[in-house]
Amino acid sequence: MVYNSQEPGSSGIAAGISQLVSGCPYAHKVTELTSKTTDWGRNTLYYLLFGSAECFREQMRIEPGIDRFFPEKEFPVGHKIKLRVVTDPSKIEKILKIARYSEIMTGGSEFDALAHVIGDKNPLTEITEAEHDKIKQYAMKTRFGANIINQNALKYFTFAKNFVKKEFSLADGNTLFNMTEILPCFTLGISSNIVFESENTFSDSKITSVIGKLEQFISEGMLGHVRHFVPGCLDHEKTKCMQTFDQVVKQIQYPEKQNNGFACTMKRDNFSDEQIASMIKTVLVVGSGTTKSTLISAIYELQKNPEYQEKLYQALVALDIPEFNEEELSDQSAEAYRKQIVDKLFKCEELKHFLLEVMRIHSPIPIQGRKTVTPIIIDDLIIPAGTTIYLTNFLANRDEANWENPSVFDPSRFENAENIKRFSPFSVGKNECMGRFHARITMMCFLYHFLMGYKIPPFDYGIDEVRMGDFFTHAFLRAIQAFLQLRKKMGN
Ligand code: HEM
Repeated sequence: MVYNSQEPGSSGIAAGISQLVSGCPYAHKVTELTSKTTDWGRNTLYYLLFGSAECFREQMRIEPGIDRFFPEKEFPVGHKIKLRVVTDPSKIEKILKIARYSEIMTGGSEFDALAHVIGDKNPLTEITEAEHDKIKQYAMKTRFGANIINQNALKYFTFAKNFVKKEFSLADGNTLFNMTEILPCFTLGISSNIVFESENTFSDSKITSVIGKLEQFISEGMLGHVRHFVPGCLDHEKTKCMQTFDQVVKQIQYPEKQNNGFACTMKRDNFSDEQIASMIKTVLVVGSGTTKSTLISAIYELQKNPEYQEKLYQALVALDIPEFNEEELSDQSAEAYRKQIVDKLFKCEELKHFLLEVMRIHSPIPIQGRKTVTPIIIDDLIIPAGTTIYLTNFLANRDEANWENPSVFDPSRFENAENIKRFSPFSVGKNECMGRFHARITMMCFLYHFLMGYKIPPFDYGIDEVRMGDFFTHAFLRAIQAFLQLRKKMGN
């Protein structure tokens, strides 16, 4: 690896990279560089500029076999990687603004990695701007806009209530629940049930683990993260996972009876079968992974901060949302409940601040990639066309230059409206998250029922440090588990 350390503090970035991509072929070299200096460049850990496709071609040395996974033009065999790290805060700020708002950058290598799993006909990986805009606007208008999500508030609330009631019915303080296994069933189930109106409940852990595996393939495709690339082996495993996944997608795409779910709506509006399949995959893989990993992190923080857990619980109790049995509701009272959920739960400041703090400290999307379309000149820095830029959210979110006591879990920091304004876990600009309202409501409804029903005592993870891995959606390296104490019996 050619390492450009001409800018101050770049070794800190190196340490950051090695945290994020530990295990990738060049990470040990990065670590070596770190050990030579005491400067962590703490306020400069924002951007890693990786060499353009040209640089990859010239310098990246990749084991034979990798080219079967990566497109030949991007990652040819036999070259070394050239890494350029930008650490000058003023340049970083300029790049940040360009990357977030401009048309002269497209998605970076994670979009290519995603395309391998979810196809290239969806808002994340769509190559033509016009198609991207068309399909994304359509999705926001028909299924993911704030108004539509609010209209469906009762459905979200009820799904979460029934899930929590069923899944944790054995809670007695001594039964251990594996939240890392349970939560994907929830996030996949709610997407499938509410977005696609599908009967598929995702209660089969084999299917949820296949989808988890696909997430891992995406991670490996990002950052040239190739440690698991054993030629032949991966292809076989990935093919098997994709086959299972395709079967699930088919069940959703071609239901026995037509419904008003997103897939059938897209069909009626003349989207192609390929586009519809890709949208289902996007929602299942991208939407579920991020939401699930945020909820898992939330459980972890509640275990670690029992006093805060009590505070949040009291805030939820104070909302005073009455119990109801949805099957017995008249249309009129259903509407009254829906309004209460929207007005009380969705506007609950304490819950909002809690989720923001979880997303700050655990960064569900740890890095975002962008690729320059044209050469960009920032002061004396020339970024060639085709350069991949990584926005290292994970590092920026824990940077002392940005946050007071960044490693302290403190939702009250978001009582300051300025902090809310400058924190965008769902990104901003052209690529802003399409599923943000769906994700927020999903997480709020789960946490409401979970915390109203159960107290989560601290959990002793023993000497194992609970560390985050370098996945596409940030995830703990070990399972998050919980004993649950009943607060009150769940009603109907
Ligand atoms: C806690 C949950 C979530 C977080 C933190 C999150 C975060 C993000 C971020 C940061 C981006 C921008 C990525 C980039 O620019 O490189 C993004 C894009 C996207 N997200 Fe989410 N997301 C979440 C949930 C969801 C859900 C539930 C869905 C779908 C139902 C979804 C669908 C998408 C799509 C389609 C895009 C691409 C938008 C575009 O490029 O135009 N996300 N998300």
